[in-house]
Amino acid sequence: MLTSLAQAVYLVAAVLFILSLAGLSKQETARRGNLFGMAGMGLALLATVALATDLSERNPVVTLLLIAMALAIGAVAGIWRARSVEMTQMPEMIAILHSFVGLAAVLVGYNSFLTEEPDAVHLVEVFLGVLIGAVTFTGSIVAFLKLSARLRSAPLMLPGRNWLNLGAVVASGGLLAWFLAAHSVVPLVLMTVVALALGWHLVASIGGGDMPVVVSMLNSYSGWAAAAAGFMLSNDLLIIVGALVGSSGAILSYIMCRAMNRSFVSVILGGFGAEGGKVAAGDQDYGEHREVQAAEVAEMLRGARTVIITPGYGMAVAKAQYPVADLTAKLRAQGVDVRFAVHPVAGRLPGHMNVLLAEAKVPYDIVLEMDEINADFAQTDVVLVIGANDTVNPAALDDPSSPIAGMPVLEVWNAKQVIVFKRSMATGYAGVQNPLFFRENTAMLFGDAKEQVEHIVAPLGA
Ligand code: TAP
Repeated sequence: MLTSLAQAVYLVAAVLFILSLAGLSKQETARRGNLFGMAGMGLALLATVALATDLSERNPVVTLLLIAMALAIGAVAGIWRARSVEMTQMPEMIAILHSFVGLAAVLVGYNSFLTEEPDAVHLVEVFLGVLIGAVTFTGSIVAFLKLSARLRSAPLMLPGRNWLNLGAVVASGGLLAWFLAAHSVVPLVLMTVVALALGWHLVASIGGGDMPVVVSMLNSYSGWAAAAAGFMLSNDLLIIVGALVGSSGAILSYIMCRAMNRSFVSVILGGFGAEGGKVAAGDQDYGEHREVQAAEVAEMLRGARTVIITPGYGMAVAKAQYPVADLTAKLRAQGVDVRFAVHPVAGRLPGHMNVLLAEAKVPYDIVLEMDEINADFAQTDVVLVIGANDTVNPAALDDPSSPIAGMPVLEVWNAKQVIVFKRSMATGYAGVQNPLFFRENTAMLFGDAKEQVEHIVAPLGA
């Protein structure tokens, strides 16, 4: 009775998760989507706890207490981290959370192997679950280290790296055959070691500029790892949720690859085919750059008819979205046409800039995607590049040896005047110098983006 009731609750939760995903696809419905997701997760937890205590052969009170303890530890750690994390640290937090899903799949796999009847289907489930889980685990740790700048973002270029990956896959195939024949834990342990190394190597060999795809790809892997755990535990909801996360992550990775003009397969295979351009910065002489002061920029904006703002990671670091929203409102009140151009991989997480601008209450209808606005720069008086760098780098289009070659970028240099807000001449995430800074129609406004925008807003008056 309880089992069928729990199954029914699982079904309702699954529908809520699907509604949640649908809601999250648009800014206007995202909040509702989140609420559906929370309700679904609440129901799923209740049903799982009820099932676990009912199925428990030992004392259900002990089971309940153990679950309560685990939930309490998780809730305290989760609430503490969610409250303390800075918006700029979100990508690395997501990466480390993916690693937990991977680790959980590995542990569930071992537990399932050691406690259940070893029929062939079950053994394959265990093997695949542990394989995907282990790759996700170490891959996500490397992504965490790269995103938090604890590890260099440049790609690791081991000799014969594609052969190493292929070797790991072939070895895992052989170990699967051994595992099925011998029902022994030895091939499982050996495969785990191979998969941990493979996950590490796959992500380590992907360069900084391609990290967005890796983050969404690991998101997808973590979904498949959860689905595999669902098969091992015969838990339908986990299978459904895992498949939802796995496939939405895969779709997102595909969209990101298209946006960055990268081959999906090559990124999944750990940068296969990218034989690495020069990652060195500042090894070419681009000439002199020109500096301006905030007061001059305010004057320039006062005389402009059309302005486009292109935000990037630096806007997030400086928390400049609030003064930027102020500046936008003031200029619009004075009849200036202000719009935003958002690159698909600006910032460090899909939709990063959209979230920040929405948070600062910039109207959605003036925030445009790259493809919608790229042709309009030529008719624009002033472009304000606020903490963006790689996403406005002309080298992506004109320098085939650049590590970001081929990535579509915002063609800001076609505007009459470009003002770049940053603190120094330092490179962006991909570690490449930006020739935009040395163009004749570009001027640099050095300093913290928030402070500089505030300096511009002040003289513009109420
Ligand atoms: P980036 O190329 O990362 O450059 C950001 C710039 O902001 C830096 O050059 C930095 O210059 C400046 N900055 C930092 N703090 C600042 C502050 N307080 N005030 C003013 N400026 C500041 O930015 P982007 O154009 O957004 O490109 C994103 C990059 O990240 C791409 O390479 C992308 O592939 C990668 N990435 C994206 C994602 C996703 S999903 N969006 C995920 C991982 C990686 P200074 O140090 O001189 O100030």
